[in-house]
Amino acid sequence: MISIDPFLRWVGGKNKMKKKILPYLPEGYRKFLYVEPFVGAGSIFFAINSNCSVISDINKKLINCYHVIKVRPQEVCVLLNNLMKNDSAENYYTVRKSFNKSVDKVQQAAQFIYLNKSSFNGIYRVNKKGEYNVPYGYKKKLTSVDLAEFIKISEYMKNTEIVCCSYKKTQKYAGKKTFYYLDPPYPPINGTSFFTHYTENRFDKNDQESLMRYAEDIAKKGAKVMITNADLPFIRELYKDWNIDILSTVRWVSSKKNKYKVNELVIRNY
Ligand SMILES: C[S@@+](CC[C@H](N)C(=O)[O-])C[C@H]1O[C@@H](n2cnc3c(N)ncnc32)[C@H](O)[C@@H]1O
Repeated sequence: MISIDPFLRWVGGKNKMKKKILPYLPEGYRKFLYVEPFVGAGSIFFAINSNCSVISDINKKLINCYHVIKVRPQEVCVLLNNLMKNDSAENYYTVRKSFNKSVDKVQQAAQFIYLNKSSFNGIYRVNKKGEYNVPYGYKKKLTSVDLAEFIKISEYMKNTEIVCCSYKKTQKYAGKKTFYYLDPPYPPINGTSFFTHYTENRFDKNDQESLMRYAEDIAKKGAKVMITNADLPFIRELYKDWNIDILSTVRWVSSKKNKYKVNELVIRNY
């Protein structure tokens, strides 16, 4: 089975955990329509090589990036390699400014990937005006991207519908032959919600409750549903009628001086 590592760094990304998550997929899932409404960097999407899929996210610039790689891999690769070659703190801030005004889809996609690779920890964070404002990461030299890699990603997405929307709009795909993987922003474990600022919109307690109702609705339509979320009493209570498994993870959460390991939940209706 072809499987690809995500080409983006993403807060909450499941790449390091995917080996632990994949055994929980439903039997015969490749015959299902795969729907991933909080796709982020797509760690699970890129791991499972589904025959037919829908990926979506509320982040417009992220979704533009997938679109552009799917249809114009060569152009984005050339622009990206130009940016990578000239990487420096000064150029980073010039690109960041241009990215916040950019209307050219290919340019915006190349800038998105460049900023993702060179920013501080690959965070995606915007200010109140919706402007990307992550500082430069001062990492070692960036290596250029291989066109063959982008063509592989484009090919991988050939049977994938790519949509920018709230997860709520993806209900229409639910049916007996649909498998949904939901990986929402997690509630903050230590009281700081900085790392959950993926977009202008935060994902709070009410959103977690709405998500549970959405999960119930798609499950009622016959869909198989798998959710990953933080291991918190509130989340366990929300899904108390579902099958819950605990995954020990390597996700470290900082609280002032200390770092501690946290568990995550895999929640399923099958
Ligand atoms: C935990 S990340 C997903 C990470 C992904 N599974 C991966 O491996 O990279 C959550 C994603 O949900 C998106 N998001 C936040 N609120 C959303 C909403 N209301 N509807 C759809 N997507 C949303 C964020 O933009 C972010 O990409």
